[in-house]
Amino acid sequence: MKPIQVGLLGIGTVGSGVFNVLQRNQEEIRRRAGRGIEIAMVADLDVARARAAAGEGVQVVNDARAVIANPDIDIVVELIGGYGVAKALVLEAIAAGKHVVTANKALLAVHGTEIFAAASAKGVMVAFEAAVAGGIPIIKALREGLTANRIQWIAGIINGTTNFILSEMRDKGLDFDVVLKEAQRLGYAEADPTFDIEGVDAAHKATIMSAIAFGIPVQFDKAYVEGITRLSASDIRYAEQLGYRIKLLGIAKRREGGVELRVHPSLVPSKRLIANVEGAMNAVMVQADAVGTTLYYGKGAGSEPTASAVIADLVDIARLAAADPEHRVPHLAFQPNTLDEAREALPVLPMAEVVTSYYLRLRVADEAGVLAKVTGLLAGAGISIDAVLQREADEVGGEGSTQTDLIILTHDTREGTMNEAIAQMQALPTVLGPIVRIRKEELN
Ligand code: HSE
Repeated sequence: MKPIQVGLLGIGTVGSGVFNVLQRNQEEIRRRAGRGIEIAMVADLDVARARAAAGEGVQVVNDARAVIANPDIDIVVELIGGYGVAKALVLEAIAAGKHVVTANKALLAVHGTEIFAAASAKGVMVAFEAAVAGGIPIIKALREGLTANRIQWIAGIINGTTNFILSEMRDKGLDFDVVLKEAQRLGYAEADPTFDIEGVDAAHKATIMSAIAFGIPVQFDKAYVEGITRLSASDIRYAEQLGYRIKLLGIAKRREGGVELRVHPSLVPSKRLIANVEGAMNAVMVQADAVGTTLYYGKGAGSEPTASAVIADLVDIARLAAADPEHRVPHLAFQPNTLDEAREALPVLPMAEVVTSYYLRLRVADEAGVLAKVTGLLAGAGISIDAVLQREADEVGGEGSTQTDLIILTHDTREGTMNEAIAQMQALPTVLGPIVRIRKEELN
């Protein structure tokens, strides 16, 4: 059979990885796909760079629309990123009857509903394994490997930049700003790291996973997003003394009457495997009714790990292109005509309805009755305390200090209830600074 013809839009780090891996493993990939996979055309604004990366025999242009307009191209691979021009090009490629492979999590988390509807109407595939956790085949695992299961929750370290920063903060006892600068110097963090450190990138990925896990539409606008910029080295240290590590988790959890969709720093028991995922690595933990707990670990970014995911999608499309569209694996695992009904039945819950446990740090006056007042307010709100840690004032504020840190771990409670309790504690004259609240996930 004639090799399937691929056009790349953008040939940066990932695009060159796709070339390298396709070339190196072409024989095995052909045997797996049942036909060859050939990159026939590349569009990139930097034509010289594209020509160097693409090698002989590949048509290089600076206009992405020339790739889409080429009738010989079967699959368009979008590696541009962002919501702007990438969205227009993906929709144009679909309209031209091309299958699309994309690594663009932002695009799918925000505009996925429109893109998948356009693809279904046209009978083409949109594949996006590289959009979540880079080289880890988590989309395939959720959509196909776990298809027998009712998935209960997913918790993932799905942003390598922030995991690298948190690992360094813990290892070296450094504050966030210092480590961020070091991460930028080493090339782990972008010059503008906002999407990573503010949790937006992780929320895009968690949104996509929530849709595939629960059969709901992608709803990034309903996700709760909190990054790591306000974490201090002291919270990481106190958490460690209590037997926890702090990780930026993307969480999608099925609850009675809805779904929790949230990204925020979380205390995770140090003994859990996922708590020991260090540096820029990613990991996703899935709890499902039949299989129990499964854990997927690997590189979440980088040239060849991401290319591995892009090529897996190319192979899938090469295998399925001839199949009746009705009988292909649905884009989001569930048949598209069931998604709207699920949006009603399983709404994304407001953050105040989330149930979790908490780490609280209060800077308090070191005097009689303070602990009693604080715990009294928590008891009054029906919040049960799991553990309390109080440091000696000298240790916290230096010799002769009259202030100390009071750290409290709670059992599960509603976020709304915790908000009210924090407001009451904050109003106590003996509470001397803003109360730090970090959510805690036991993941059991
Ligand atoms: N910026 C992402 C990360 C890269 O740090 O994990 C892959 O999405």
